[in-house]
Amino acid sequence: MSESVLERLRRKYASRVDWFVYTEIARGSPPEVYEAALHLYRAGGKRVRPFVVMATARMLAGSEGEMYALPYAAAVELFHNFTLIHDDIMDKDDFRRGVPTTHKVYGEAFAILAGDLAYALSYRAISHARNLGEKPTNLAWAFNILTEAAVRVSEGQAMDMMFEEKTVVDYHDYLKMIYLKTGALLEASAKLGVVAAAEELDQGWMPILEAMGTYGKYVGLAFQIRDDILGVFGDPRKTGKPRYNDLIRGKKTLLVLYAYRHAEGEAKELIRRVLERKLTGDPEELEKVANVIRETGALSYAEDLARRFADEAIQIIDEIREVEDEEAAEALKELARFVVEREK
Ligand code: IPE
Ligand code: IPE
Ligand code: MG
Ligand code: MG
Repeated sequence: MSESVLERLRRKYASRVDWFVYTEIARGSPPEVYEAALHLYRAGGKRVRPFVVMATARMLAGSEGEMYALPYAAAVELFHNFTLIHDDIMDKDDFRRGVPTTHKVYGEAFAILAGDLAYALSYRAISHARNLGEKPTNLAWAFNILTEAAVRVSEGQAMDMMFEEKTVVDYHDYLKMIYLKTGALLEASAKLGVVAAAEELDQGWMPILEAMGTYGKYVGLAFQIRDDILGVFGDPRKTGKPRYNDLIRGKKTLLVLYAYRHAEGEAKELIRRVLERKLTGDPEELEKVANVIRETGALSYAEDLARRFADEAIQIIDEIREVEDEEAAEALKELARFVVEREK
């Protein structure tokens, strides 16, 4: 079976970005803190965000765009890894990417620091673009785009945690929360790809910057809804993450919010227990919750909504006139389809 364009480019970019991170960015001492910062990084991951940066740059400016995009691609993956390290502390998760989480290996205090380092390294990666001859205006844009995403992710993570204490959250607030915690970084990734493509980002580039930002945002919304689905229906051997933890922690995912609205009688009571964080972790009870999620139509509803966001993303790529490299455009569309079908 021939490999898809998406798969081929994703691999190619992942190895370039990893090499750049290991040789140029994540070096220093004491080595222990760098090892902790790279613990999850080395364990793998899909490298979706660097793919978005690189493919966007290539779509708009060919292989030269790719060259300028490398430090930005490294930056978003390092930033993503920072959020994962801290997120696993917040969510009390023990496994990710098939390995014990950073705080499980290094302890909480050191993991917080490792996350801080990964965060700082993401900015070091952006700075590195200067060595490639990136223009000061573009650099300023790049710093600004990453900073804005960083602010939004913190806001989204705060909402996510505060929702644990609430029984019900409306769909609008749920969507805002997932945009902030996940969509904003994908939005930033696509925008950074545009910055890399532009020799000098001026007014003429604004429409495409906006359009690609919206593409990233839709991909991010679809991505997070799928993540929530995999948290209940996924196979931990494939996802590398534990199942049912969202239910135990009373996370307000679309699945449980919808199930609560549409369930009746005993089933509704069961979902209320999820929303109020009253589950004990009993496997039988968790499976019952999963069944209610299926039977109320919450699973299909979430799948449909994710697909609609993915379709919006695809349409944006279809409407871009400045395509220099068709293959990269195709891969970006494939990514939108992939995020809603993925099993990991
Ligand atoms: C996990 O992201 C966290 C979310 C934003 C849902 P990914 O699913 O991209 O994780 P990796 O990088 O492939 O491990
Ligand atoms: C995803 O958080 C967003 C960030 C990590 C910023 P989740 O808590 O929903 O993602 P997983 O399922 O742990 O990867
Ligand atoms: Mg979380
Ligand atoms: Mg989590």
